[in-house]
Amino acid sequence: MTKVHKELLQAKRTVRDYQKWEYDEIVRIYKDFAPWWELQGKRLLDVGCGLGGKLPFYAEQGARKVIGVDLRPFSAFAAAHLACEQGKSSGVICVAIADGLTLPFQDNSFDAIISVNVFEHVVDPLSVLQECYRVLRPNGYLYLYFPPFYSPWGAHLDGWINFPWPHLIFSEQNLVRAAAQVELQKSLNAQFIPPAQVFWANLDTLPELNRLTIRQFLELVNRAKFKILECRLLPVGRHFLQSIQLGGFFLIFLKILSLVPRINELIVTKIVCVMIKEG
Ligand SMILES: C[S@@+](CC[C@H](N)C(=O)[O-])C[C@H]1O[C@@H](n2cnc3c(N)ncnc32)[C@H](O)[C@@H]1O
Repeated sequence: MTKVHKELLQAKRTVRDYQKWEYDEIVRIYKDFAPWWELQGKRLLDVGCGLGGKLPFYAEQGARKVIGVDLRPFSAFAAAHLACEQGKSSGVICVAIADGLTLPFQDNSFDAIISVNVFEHVVDPLSVLQECYRVLRPNGYLYLYFPPFYSPWGAHLDGWINFPWPHLIFSEQNLVRAAAQVELQKSLNAQFIPPAQVFWANLDTLPELNRLTIRQFLELVNRAKFKILECRLLPVGRHFLQSIQLGGFFLIFLKILSLVPRINELIVTKIVCVMIKEG
């Protein structure tokens, strides 16, 4: 398990800690959207805002209006509560319970849309893309950041099964059974906030995952009307390799591999994609 995963497990214990983790994550990753990142004066929609920890960051970045939507009432309420507490950005941040499949907004309502760590969960990614296209204004940007399914941690079992690529080695049914056993021993659900709980004993397959691969994602983007400005495929181990001597050589090698179809499905931990709705 990586340091970030350990911090995430710790953060899942309270709403406050999780919101802070969400905030710290966007502070860490927003530069991956450069040179396309610009929120000054924008009306921004966050699809799948979770507990809303990232929303204040978007306001701090100069967004004129930040609207977060999430499918889960618990998460949307926590996000709304956080927004109310943020005196500085009062009136700037709003939150609603809504599904990315049917966004409750008129056409061309937003200057930009962001969705972080959500796209691997949505039931119908093409429809969500098309819905984002509809509510985005011409020349607006869509920022997406999410892990492809076959990436090391793409099975989303952290806490219960803590080694990479478990879903390449074992069947989903066996993984779910193993996670249920671990849950019996460790009672993680009792320590986690509701959105982080998974009731493995009631499941047969990995829950809330659409199993989207890099190849499938790029096909969907082709079918939606968006034009890709940049799609970066971030390889596994990049932070570690940047911190050790000669790591740069391995990183170049990994970056080349991350462009090779099929192989990249295994080593790319995040897809970072910026798209434009051409005017
Ligand atoms: C891993 S959380 C990410 C939260 C937040 N974006 C972040 O990165 O801090 C995924 C969120 O997506 C939400 N979600 C999943 N499918 C959705 C959909 N179709 N519409 C809106 N939200 C959705 C879930 O309820 C969950 O809160």
